[in-house]
Amino acid sequence: MENIDMNNRYSALASLVYNMDKPVGRSFGDVEYYRARLQECGGPVLEPAVGNGRVYVPLREAGIDVDGFDASEEMLAYGREACQARGIVARLSQQTFETFHYDRRFAAAIIPAGSFQLITDGNDALAFLRRLHAHLLPGGRLIIDIGGIDGLFGSAAPARSWKTAEGDLLTLLDHRAEPDYVSQTTSAYLRYERWSRGALLESELDLFTLRWWGMQELRLALEATGFSDVIVSSDYVFGQAPGKNTGTMTFEARRGG
Ligand SMILES: C[S@@+](CC[C@H](N)C(=O)[O-])C[C@H]1O[C@@H](n2cnc3c(N)ncnc32)[C@H](O)[C@@H]1O
Repeated sequence: MENIDMNNRYSALASLVYNMDKPVGRSFGDVEYYRARLQECGGPVLEPAVGNGRVYVPLREAGIDVDGFDASEEMLAYGREACQARGIVARLSQQTFETFHYDRRFAAAIIPAGSFQLITDGNDALAFLRRLHAHLLPGGRLIIDIGGIDGLFGSAAPARSWKTAEGDLLTLLDHRAEPDYVSQTTSAYLRYERWSRGALLESELDLFTLRWWGMQELRLALEATGFSDVIVSSDYVFGQAPGKNTGTMTFEARRGG
């Protein structure tokens, strides 16, 4: 899976499917959780990998001051459209985990939906945590979700389809590759297609790779990059310790002094 051009790209069809499947406001418990955790943060918030604004827009609607960036212009376009439809001035830019930069510092940064796992190299992940640390105000908080292990080791998702407004059929086929235990990654060939009356109009391949993290490993990574007071919660109940049947783990940490 070395082809960077096709890796975790979220191109046109992938973004269209994401926006139909997970539109603005669709919550997995995360929208309410982040809204509650940020209510008292008293300063600007950053959402890296903001995507189509699924979480961003409800936070802005709740009066929280959020900036977002994403590598995919196609995903950002849905976010901008959703903001415009609600009379919100979008503060969204095309930037990446690797090189993002803001002149202002944030009181909090949030990474919902397991997006942190899209950084497939462990050292790149540490560099990203350091860059985030530098963008936080003293005492600022970082909140990161890690998705359930089923998404990495379970069987591939069954074929799925959606109908577009024009009556076309969008299909998504997920073919898993073997997990790589050295790099701690699982890859999938995600093939998106658009069909009309039995004819294939478009197809797109996303080489989708996620890195898995042990609970203790990510705690240590946060501490090694300057964070402290790490609290790990499960399934969007703050302070609820993760257990064998946990789906999502949420890590919250603080930038010291
Ligand atoms: C699962 S979506 C999450 C979107 C949104 N945060 C949400 O909760 O619904 C992951 C996002 O990560 C973005 N992404 C992937 N690689 C990236 C990178 N290197 N830098 C910034 N964003 C990236 C994708 O474009 C995509 O929009």
